Amino acid sequence: MKRLEGKSALITGSARGIGRAFAEAYVREGATVAIADVNIERAKQTAAEIGAAAYAVELDVTRQESIDAAIAATVERAGGLDILVNNAALFDLAPIVEITRESYERLFSINVAGTLFTLQAAAKQMITQGRGGKIINMASQAGRRGEALVAVYCATKAAVISLTQSAGLDLIKHRINVNAIAPGVVEGEHWEGVDALFAKYENRPLGEKKRLVGEAVPYGRMGTAEDLTGMAIFLASSESDYVVAQTYNVDGGNWMS
Ligand SMILES: NC(=O)c1ccc[n+]([C@@H]2O[C@H](COP(=O)([O-])OP(=O)(O)OC[C@H]3O[C@@H](n4cnc5c(N)ncnc54)[C@H](O)[C@@H]3O)[C@@H](O)[C@H]2O)c1
Repeated sequence: MKRLEGKSALITGSARGIGRAFAEAYVREGATVAIADVNIERAKQTAAEIGAAAYAVELDVTRQESIDAAIAATVERAGGLDILVNNAALFDLAPIVEITRESYERLFSINVAGTLFTLQAAAKQMITQGRGGKIINMASQAGRRGEALVAVYCATKAAVISLTQSAGLDLIKHRINVNAIAPGVVEGEHWEGVDALFAKYENRPLGEKKRLVGEAVPYGRMGTAEDLTGMAIFLASSESDYVVAQTYNVDGGNWMS
């Protein structure tokens, strides 16, 4: 039996990476999925590759009118909204004395304000529908503790964990579950960029940081997007109805809390 049969999902930032893997997994479980991304060309390509149950929606989570339009497009296309995954995010890295206001504002506007106001718009729609819903925020092990070079990104992910707790407590009366996933280090295009930034600031050859963080994972390797799909399906399904305001580490044993 498929676990998300007939459900309508919207996944932000799902043109590539972890969001794309979640979209594929949700479609396999019977859902219809909006591939909602600021990169609309890539979103269209991804949706076409996944198949008829996936469709592209243009979304910039930093703009309220874009969020509202993406929710409206999803409701029109799929007859409602049952599952939101707040997955879109940006990474940056700099020593404290080199952090710029531009980087701070960009990261907080996508990772924190984008998460909150997409969650809010989805929650309004779900409350109107009156059949509950599931909201999953992408946190990170970076939100569990600071890192010398990663102050701003870590702070945004700590904020995502906190928002998950408050929204989870406020929305459960509407039978909307808000929970989060905290991955560790996950293979993909995202980590190519992260590795290049560490190479610059830690004066390393390209690829070295990625190799070292993979070796340091208790499981013995970096994660893959597919390693996260089991938790993403569980939190989107009725199996997690009694799970409220939690953040789950799916990180090969990197962090325990
Ligand atoms: N990859 C990792 O190691 C890792 C680890 C921990 C947490 N995470 C988190 O998991 C999530 C997915 O990570 P990923 O590695 O797949 O990232 P990624 O960079 O591969 O994908 C991010 C997607 O978000 C889209 N996006 C960027 N700005 C946007 C905006 N303003 N509006 C809408 N879409 C926008 C991009 O176009 C891209 O498709 C993120 O929240 C990330 O912080 C990733």
